[in-house]
Amino acid sequence: ALVSLRQLLDHAAENSYGLPAFNVNNMEQVKAIMEAADAVDSPVILQGSAGARGYAGETFLRHLISAAVEAYPHIPICMHQDHGASPDVCQRSIQSGFSSVMMDGSLMSDGKTPSSYEYNVATTRQVVDMAHACGVSVEGELGCLGSLETGEAGEEDGQGAEGKLEMDQMLTDPDEAADFVKKTNVDALAIAIGTSHGAYKFTKKPTGAILRIDRVKEIHKRIPSVHLVMHGSSSVPQDWLKIINDFGGDMGQTYGVPVEEIVEGIKSGVRKVNIDTDLRMASTGAIRRHLHDNPSNFDPRKFLAEATKGMRDVCKNRYEAFGSAGQA
Ligand code: G3H
Ligand code: 13P
Ligand code: NA
Ligand code: ZN
Repeated sequence: ALVSLRQLLDHAAENSYGLPAFNVNNMEQVKAIMEAADAVDSPVILQGSAGARGYAGETFLRHLISAAVEAYPHIPICMHQDHGASPDVCQRSIQSGFSSVMMDGSLMSDGKTPSSYEYNVATTRQVVDMAHACGVSVEGELGCLGSLETGEAGEEDGQGAEGKLEMDQMLTDPDEAADFVKKTNVDALAIAIGTSHGAYKFTKKPTGAILRIDRVKEIHKRIPSVHLVMHGSSSVPQDWLKIINDFGGDMGQTYGVPVEEIVEGIKSGVRKVNIDTDLRMASTGAIRRHLHDNPSNFDPRKFLAEATKGMRDVCKNRYEAFGSAGQA
């Protein structure tokens, strides 16, 4: 059944687990996520970005998610709009049937330029008023993650003293988070605690604590009823990176957020964990390998089935690691 983000994350908080939120824009991704959830009995968050709407088109995106709801009536599914750049965008998603929207007021409507705190409060508040009147949940964002397009801050390895200072200024401030929630009444809040979008997060293999879990705890203590969200939470699987490069790809060496670090975040109050890159990599690796091994094949179902299988295994692993398995 289609449920709001608030319903799913309230249950996650009551039962101390986290939910992966996977980005979708095609049928294979939706099927992989749903087959994995069905296998381990996990609730599901499917999210569509502006890029997903551009690729699939609003109608196809909406019906792909509706198809999941219809095919798996026993699994609670949230249909979430990822990174809404303006109240207009969120309004259209609410009209089209999304049960949750993200108003990312941390950036201006170009999705690039950092905004003022006042702009963030005003636009987010506007979306909350609109969404709550329709039973739709709202996720806001406070703090500065890496660039959505280039993952610029993702190049930051946090090793140098200079880098650490820059990083600190980008992190979500607990006092500001409390004020933001009071003024906007958001259901969930994306926080900056050291993650960034895209595949190129860390140039060196993370050893030990790489996220600011102390900051998660501080924020959670201040706003316990607001569900914390970690964006940029792909782990950049090294096995898929190798498969991509072994079969004709050319991705640079890079590292993501270790699953154990995400689990620490969940123990400290994180409830929603955004993942896109990992499924892109599993999909690309599986297709490259299949086409390499089967040069005479020209039936897309053969390589797309491999992509689905690769993505399904990643999803299953995350449901189990984050504790959402068995909670549907
Ligand atoms: O947060 C961004 C997601 O990874 C979506 O990426 O805009 O390329 O669809 P996209
Ligand atoms: P990744 O780029 O780490 O997969 O994060 C996706 C995300 O945060 C979508 O909002
Ligand atoms: Na989101
Ligand atoms: Zn994001």
